Amino acid sequence: MCGIVGYIGQNDTKEILLKGLEKLEYRGYDSAGIAVQNEDGVHTFKVKGRIAALRQAVDENVYAPMGIGHTRWATHGAPSEENAHPHQSASGRFSLVHNGVIENYNELREEYLQDVPLKSDTDTEIIVQLIEKLHEKHKDVTEAFRQTVRLLKGSYAVAVMDRDNPDVILVAKNKSPLLVGLGDGFNVVASDSMAMLQVTNRFVELLDQEIVIVKRNAIRIQKLDGTPVEREHFIAEIDADDIEKGTYPHFMLKEIDEQPFVIRKIIQEYQGDNDDIKLESDIRQAMLDADRVYIIACGTSYHAGLVGKQMIEKLAKIPVEVHVASEFSYNMPLLSEKPLFIFISQSGETADSRAVLVQVKEMGYPALTITNVPGSTLSREADYTLHLHAGPEIAVASTKAYTAQMAVLAILAVDTARAKGYELDFDPMKELAIVANAIEALCDQKDVMEGIAKDYLSTTRNCFFIGRGIDYYVGLEGALKLKEISYIQTEGFPGGELKHGTIALIEEGTPVIALATQENVNYPIRSNVQEVVSRGANACIISMKGLDQTDDTLVVPEVHDLLTPLVSVIPLQLIAYYAALHRDCDVDKPRNLAKSVTVE
Ligand code: F6R
Repeated sequence: MCGIVGYIGQNDTKEILLKGLEKLEYRGYDSAGIAVQNEDGVHTFKVKGRIAALRQAVDENVYAPMGIGHTRWATHGAPSEENAHPHQSASGRFSLVHNGVIENYNELREEYLQDVPLKSDTDTEIIVQLIEKLHEKHKDVTEAFRQTVRLLKGSYAVAVMDRDNPDVILVAKNKSPLLVGLGDGFNVVASDSMAMLQVTNRFVELLDQEIVIVKRNAIRIQKLDGTPVEREHFIAEIDADDIEKGTYPHFMLKEIDEQPFVIRKIIQEYQGDNDDIKLESDIRQAMLDADRVYIIACGTSYHAGLVGKQMIEKLAKIPVEVHVASEFSYNMPLLSEKPLFIFISQSGETADSRAVLVQVKEMGYPALTITNVPGSTLSREADYTLHLHAGPEIAVASTKAYTAQMAVLAILAVDTARAKGYELDFDPMKELAIVANAIEALCDQKDVMEGIAKDYLSTTRNCFFIGRGIDYYVGLEGALKLKEISYIQTEGFPGGELKHGTIALIEEGTPVIALATQENVNYPIRSNVQEVVSRGANACIISMKGLDQTDDTLVVPEVHDLLTPLVSVIPLQLIAYYAALHRDCDVDKPRNLAKSVTVE
């Protein structure tokens, strides 16, 4: 994973790099570093820890008009100062930052670098040492860089500085995201546009196996064989305010609160004329042509996919399978004759999902990506894209993207059903508007959720979530949200399954959060609650108005039964948030995680 930035211009670069890295911390935050270059040479600052620690370590008195920076999520080599980027070549001439994984780094070391003592345990250092080695042979830096990149197998977005050439930063990309940003008298590079919105909103997208020669006043894109590439820039349409916390203490809380606006935005974006749904006709046709839909996703997006399956099967009557991407790519099930693959991914960069996309495209099957980042890798490489319109999601724990994913899946399901000529008594825009109001009402009850978090979770070491049908899927999401930010061990279960083994873990006071929003399973889920209560569990029942009973802990407003997950998840998100807060956890940046998981 990791995030990289680079700047070449006239002004001092330290603050630009540090601010850029702060915006990229969602990509990893176990160590960080910058290298800046001026007439005195290269000055490198690295720390184990976060950008805040790096800021302390940087010498304020060094003034330099160019530099590169990195925030790391360790893959090869533990988080440490030695393994933090930028890495330097043996002579100190070349400095390099890298996001990705070099799969053949051992082979490259054996073949080219036996005589070079390495300073780190990373795959990355091999790249910078190779550049120096090949430069000894080719005497031309760009050629040495190009030759090095040709030898790399795996994923990379790299930026390189040459101490002896203060006019250029060289970059290359394969599979890992990378943009070049354009300014007046300066240019920048970054893993995503948010990092450099502070100085420009004009960006050029790079494709795999391209290199770019970035100078102060020009950029030159080339293919690996040296063929020049012309590409128009685009304007990043992100409002700089969207990526700031504003008055909120955490991005997660801000993003939870944004959900009603996101749902209303989705209604606005997908509302066509005369109550039609605004959707590309090719996407509609792809759905109609499919004899089976395969939803591929990871984590929270996978949970949204489970809900999407119910929506598509119930409304459009197309069979749907939902698969965890990392499993699917190694254990592909028997496929139907005319499958359509739907990739759900907030970031659009998740490597596990991309691996499946590459496989199914090679097999010739159509693919649709549902993502929050339309220019992302999964979006570019699929045949079609549906945009979530959720605005940047910064907190590592996904909240608004999850509800947006389910809203867009509901719209897709209804559109397909209508295209098939089915009469539905379900107007998605009207029902989603009711959902937006319900979410708003729940967001206004934060004190209640905080109370639940305190009562049930402040000292517990574990917690179970139960539900049936669609409520079970929301329980899985509630369990993930709570475990990833509070480090409480949690599990989500179908209500009926607990008694087949896991009920052995229920002790006096074990919290069990039960969801009861579905009429057809209201009775059985309540029986399951009784089973755990009679074994000592501390049950918290979250039900929907109309199905509620006297002792329920929280009653959420009534919405259409296919859309209940968009509403019942809100208390679970807020309970997770407050539980993490009470336990002094880092809500926005939980340990060991990164927002965009770009390694398999
Ligand atoms: C959990 C979370 C992750 C992501 C997963 C997939 O809160 O955010 O489980 O859902 O890493 O990421 P995307 O959706 O970007 O493919």
